[in-house]
Amino acid sequence: MNLFNVYSLFDITPVKAKGSYLWDDKGDQYLDLYGGHAVISIGHTHPVYVKAITEQLQKIGFYSNSVQNPLQKKLAERLGKLSGYVDYYLFLCNSGAEANENALKLASFVNKRKKVIAFNKSFHGRTSGAVAVTDNPKIVSPFNAAHEVVFVPLNDEEAFEKAITEDTAAVIIEGIQGVGGINLVNDKFLQLLRKKCDETGALLILDEVQSGYGRSGKFFAHQYAGIKPDLITMAKGMGNGFPVGGVLISPKIQPWIGELGTTFGGNYLACVAALAVLEVIETEKLMGNTVNVGNHLLRELRGFSALQNVRGKGLMIGFDVPDELKDLRKRLLLEHKIFTGASGSNTIRLLPSLALTKRQSDEFLEAMQEVLEGEKVGE
Ligand SMILES: Cc1ncc(COP(=O)(O)O)c(C=O)c1O
Repeated sequence: MNLFNVYSLFDITPVKAKGSYLWDDKGDQYLDLYGGHAVISIGHTHPVYVKAITEQLQKIGFYSNSVQNPLQKKLAERLGKLSGYVDYYLFLCNSGAEANENALKLASFVNKRKKVIAFNKSFHGRTSGAVAVTDNPKIVSPFNAAHEVVFVPLNDEEAFEKAITEDTAAVIIEGIQGVGGINLVNDKFLQLLRKKCDETGALLILDEVQSGYGRSGKFFAHQYAGIKPDLITMAKGMGNGFPVGGVLISPKIQPWIGELGTTFGGNYLACVAALAVLEVIETEKLMGNTVNVGNHLLRELRGFSALQNVRGKGLMIGFDVPDELKDLRKRLLLEHKIFTGASGSNTIRLLPSLALTKRQSDEFLEAMQEVLEGEKVGE
């Protein structure tokens, strides 16, 4: 049987990982500034994380959501405290798309409406509703396209005010756009979204799947704007690689039995993985590290004249490269053994573990210096 070939793959086979490094089957070491697409939050194979999952697996790995699972409550409590959302509810699922799918469904259950406002360059996942609110027609099938969605340019207040109406079910926006190329949302724009949602009865959904869990330096990126969404979706960094997602739900929204559900969501292994992540974020003060190392990277990258529009918050950083440097990502990987992310052909994204050290960030900056000097771009 062949695999259904939908991914473009590097010819690299990682077999081992620790902290911010990976090793392939040939024994070559790689510095990881990609985090498996913003997933590795506390570092690969962190001992607290490995111990928690191993010990749990020896007790009980799975049952179902038809019995008591105190680990779910423990996770909700710890997450509420660390995120500042103690009074919100938690619904657990398995991925980012699923979290968004559930958030959209809940919004529509609450106000009985269908229309959703999303933003240009958004990415919210590949399931039916999540892909319908994703601004990439290539991955939206005719079946998905049946949803009622209006796309508005990001940070365009006038366009948004025109789009939102009394029949809008929800507005969905990323804390910081990830796949679209690390595009920051203005605080004022988010505050306007909050205000207009309140006025029209639409629900505000903050997709923090990529920008959440400390990556921006705050637990959620939208917290820079001082607003509270009705629904917050999370996944990626939540389990440091173990598949787990969730929705934080405003106390204004009351659940009814059967409203949402999942077989795997909130299983024992996912809960202990997520608890270990929160413990390490807290005890190792990873949000503080994210701000320090992130600011160092932003400052130093801005010093490279060949790079354009260096942007980001914490360890969610993007920059554009001119056409002469289109192969920068490939060269960093093949010549310097450094993983980075991309968006389109001219944007590089950095999404490392929140435990990336300053020394490791300098390793990357030195490699950048070498590549850029070799190219003599901008001289
Ligand atoms: C902002 C955002 N939302 C949702 C998703 C979908 O998450 P998943 O791939 O876990 O379904 C992604 C994935 O890249 C994302 O970046």
